[in-house]
Amino acid sequence: MTTVNSSGSLTVTDNRTGKTYDIPVENGAFKTMDFRQIKVSDDDFGLLGYDPGFLNTASCKSAITYIDGDRGILRYRGYPIEQLALHSTFLETAYLLIKGELPDKERLAVWSYNIHHHTMTHANIVKFMDGFRYDAHPMGIMVGTVGALSTFYPDAKDIMNEDSRKLQVRRLIGKIPTLAAMSFRHSMGFPYVLPDNDLSYPGNFLSMMFKMTEQNYSPNPVLERALDVLFILHADHEQNCSTNAVRAVGSSGVDPYTAVAAGCAALYGPKHGGANEAVIRMLMEIGSIEKVPEFIKSVKAGSGRLMGFGHRVYKNYDPRAKIIKKIAFEVFEETGRSPLLDIALELERIALEDDYFISRKLYPNVDFYSGLIYKAMGFPLDMFPVLFAIGRIPGWLSQWTEHVQDSDQKIARPRQLYLGEEARDWMPIESRPRNRMDEKKLDICRL
Ligand code: CMC
Repeated sequence: MTTVNSSGSLTVTDNRTGKTYDIPVENGAFKTMDFRQIKVSDDDFGLLGYDPGFLNTASCKSAITYIDGDRGILRYRGYPIEQLALHSTFLETAYLLIKGELPDKERLAVWSYNIHHHTMTHANIVKFMDGFRYDAHPMGIMVGTVGALSTFYPDAKDIMNEDSRKLQVRRLIGKIPTLAAMSFRHSMGFPYVLPDNDLSYPGNFLSMMFKMTEQNYSPNPVLERALDVLFILHADHEQNCSTNAVRAVGSSGVDPYTAVAAGCAALYGPKHGGANEAVIRMLMEIGSIEKVPEFIKSVKAGSGRLMGFGHRVYKNYDPRAKIIKKIAFEVFEETGRSPLLDIALELERIALEDDYFISRKLYPNVDFYSGLIYKAMGFPLDMFPVLFAIGRIPGWLSQWTEHVQDSDQKIARPRQLYLGEEARDWMPIESRPRNRMDEKKLDICRL
């Protein structure tokens, strides 16, 4: 494991008491628990760290994904994302993330066989799927059905059993594309398509999505490869919102299906997996290249954000966005160029020259071009976060596996700074005073 070469200690003086403490530093971090000893009196709880959104708090040690946001670097298990996108497949990358090393030929064959032989779902999942309203958002369906898998595999509760964990990992990677395609076909009113294990992982997904009356579905090889690379680019991104959700929910000891359903729920939000959908809606709303300067002006004036721009970690061009931009041109060679691409290119050009975006280090992220590719391939907008979820599955599962095996980990249970009322006595309803705020609320209720 790579270690940050900055161990030693901090000398901390509490100006409230004049006392000095020696706080150990390991791998460039101190343990916030070491600050608990810093008190103003014996009955003081001790000093807490306050860090909403985890801006400067490491929640775990990890050996999976490395990001250097200032230099635009992303590596899975030490391998640069650019090399994996060029030479690897999604299934090989999934193996790398979960097992820590790239597979040899024989191991890859066994791994692929195992994943492909878990693509079918229990027949009752169809009934479950059919229970959703005709216009249910596919990501809402994913949250529900992935969680429901836990009821089909009660053996998954045995999370400390390595063989059981490996089986659930294979099941989840195998079944996610099937559930994803079913969620789409449900919303279209199309009959479900069974998996075709003669096809590649992305090819089988395309078949389950788009096969109609033909005997055998043959995916377009350029689109099939583009989808595989997009899955690779989304496969992991260290402690992002959904991965944190998987780890936090998993820390309760629940089975991986339930923990991954929490990841899907987090990914549903527009600031995370919903951003590529929001990018397309934004491009459609802008409508033409001529309106781009006006739109940028409105963003700078504070009315909304430039979707697909900015990142909590990358303060440089997101390395995934560079790769995706190239794929977009390859895909458009096959499908025909979308006018939205030209709006996106103009937005990027203007934003990258504008001081508002430069000074805030806002660059295109993974979502800026991915939606354009998905749309050109024929995926409806509300399938975009679902596609993100398929790609992210090996990341969630490798992070969950690492978490379960990490003896440092405990149930995720943050502290809070309580700033509410002091203790007070309950009053009978007729004696409770009304304040002006209550009056206003009552008026609203009467309307
Ligand atoms: N457009 C315009 N201004 C922005 C944008 C944007 N896309 N993103 C950040 N800013 C501004 C923000 O208004 C703030 O300005 P000021 O300092 O004047 O108040 C400053 O930049 C810092 O923003 P922040 O919200 O504190 O940054 P954050 O690290 O909390 O947010 C983010 C990161 C990704 C949520 C945010 O950049 C954003 O909302 N981007 C648009 C949504 C998007 O594309 N999300 C996909 C993220 S990549 C996929 C993934 O990995 O999940």
